[in-house]
Amino acid sequence: MASTASTSAPVAHNAVPPPVVPSAGRSSRIAPHSHIKGLGLTPEGNAPPDASGGFIGQTNAREACGVIVDLIKSRKFSGRALLLVGAPGTGKTALALAVSHELGAKVPFCPIVGSEVYSTEVKKTEVLAEAFRRAIGLRIKETKEVYEGEVTELTPTESENPLSGYGKTVSHVVVGLKTVKGTKQLRLDPSIYEAILKEKIVVGDVVYVEANTGAVKRVGRSDAYASSYDLESETYVPLPKGDVHKRKELVQDVTLGDLDAANARPQGGQDIMSVMGSLVKSGRTEVTDKLRREVNKVVKGYVDQGVAEVVPGVVFIDEVHMLDIECFTYLNALLESPMAPTVIFATNRGNSLVRGTTDIVSPHGVPVDLLDRCMIVKTDAYTREQVGKVVQLRANVEGLRLGPGVLERLAAEGEKSSLRYALQLLTPAAILAGLSGRTTIEAEDISEMGELFLDAKTSAGLIGEGGGFLGGR
Ligand SMILES: Nc1ncnc2c1ncn2[C@@H]1O[C@H](COP(=O)(O)OP(=O)(O)OP(=O)(O)O)[C@@H](O)[C@H]1O
Ligand SMILES: [Mg+2]
Repeated sequence: MASTASTSAPVAHNAVPPPVVPSAGRSSRIAPHSHIKGLGLTPEGNAPPDASGGFIGQTNAREACGVIVDLIKSRKFSGRALLLVGAPGTGKTALALAVSHELGAKVPFCPIVGSEVYSTEVKKTEVLAEAFRRAIGLRIKETKEVYEGEVTELTPTESENPLSGYGKTVSHVVVGLKTVKGTKQLRLDPSIYEAILKEKIVVGDVVYVEANTGAVKRVGRSDAYASSYDLESETYVPLPKGDVHKRKELVQDVTLGDLDAANARPQGGQDIMSVMGSLVKSGRTEVTDKLRREVNKVVKGYVDQGVAEVVPGVVFIDEVHMLDIECFTYLNALLESPMAPTVIFATNRGNSLVRGTTDIVSPHGVPVDLLDRCMIVKTDAYTREQVGKVVQLRANVEGLRLGPGVLERLAAEGEKSSLRYALQLLTPAAILAGLSGRTTIEAEDISEMGELFLDAKTSAGLIGEGGGFLGGR
């Protein structure tokens, strides 16, 4: 007996929504760094030149980052900073992302770009402070009364809407749960049905419902269903043991930033976020220092009771030279605060003016007092061979086939101008090949691309020859 929402009649706002069809496959958008899966280090921490993690060369920088990852994992690098420096396109951003992969999903990683601090609505220092809060995780363990099991039945029961006369509303939902030991049928409130739809729960999923709050969480798909063909990467979990109704230790990962935000706008949610809702009932809409201190106090209480554990994560500030002197001064203070995460900076500038000053020239555009707190790691330029390998990796990720000589051509282009230029020629060349009815990119496509799209040096050179036509009319 499945839901039978009528689609033609006007529908009350809380009528049964149409059944959720699980999406057939994840759209495969390919981001510039999607070939990077990690630092690709050996267990001893050495960097083989051709890594499985998608990283080519850059052995020094990778090993250095490996050490930092170990330090972060053993929580010995909080409040310290790593500065990645190197020419454009040498893999600094990629390295930082690899570090985040290595740390795993449980360690918060908060990436921002230097220029993000310049907002007209939020103070520069606020942006930084928030990023730092988002990089401090809190793992909360609670024992709660739950109903857990594999969903055997999911039946919303409708009744006439007493208010409008049109359409139907869900009066309750019947959920059947099965464990190794037994089964149970629950009659749940319609608000829980909304949560069930939101979590995209279908028959065969293993879920638990918190008895007190009614919060529903999907644990995964029951492995009884593991043989069916699933395109998406599913997590299969065994049928839960014990009774359906039981006490269970739940672990939740949140960041201090999440707690700040949830408590600045208390809405009375269902989970841990609103535990602190009782703290601030005034409906504040801004995260103030006072609120942060209050949240800290509660968090400290949790930690002292052994309910929660602080997990310091990483703030990654790309293009750090875009920050100005006020931000840098504030960063010094943030780094010295007791609950500071690890900070990774990246920049491609050499000696340059510190933003916001007129006369302070400093290495990487970062004031010396902050530089002093950083460990500096340099990324090297790539050889032709290495460019070739990265191009090949990208071609694999993008599903492109390269004809004879193409890799050599691109590698040569990359060595002459930059790795990015070589990578950027790849996709349009594939389109060109497609237009000529081929599935493989040939050397001629690359030549044609090279004529259509210039690299920076050539383009600047042309402008120079033309008598600087950008300047004078
Ligand atoms: N060693 C490498 N192995 C594999 N891919 C790489 C490597 N280095 C860079 N790449 C890829 O090359 C491209 C450019 O690298 P990235 O964006 O990390 O450069 P960057 O150093 O951050 O440059 P910028 O200073 O301009 O920000 C990205 O697509 C990146 O994934
Ligand atoms: Mg970058």
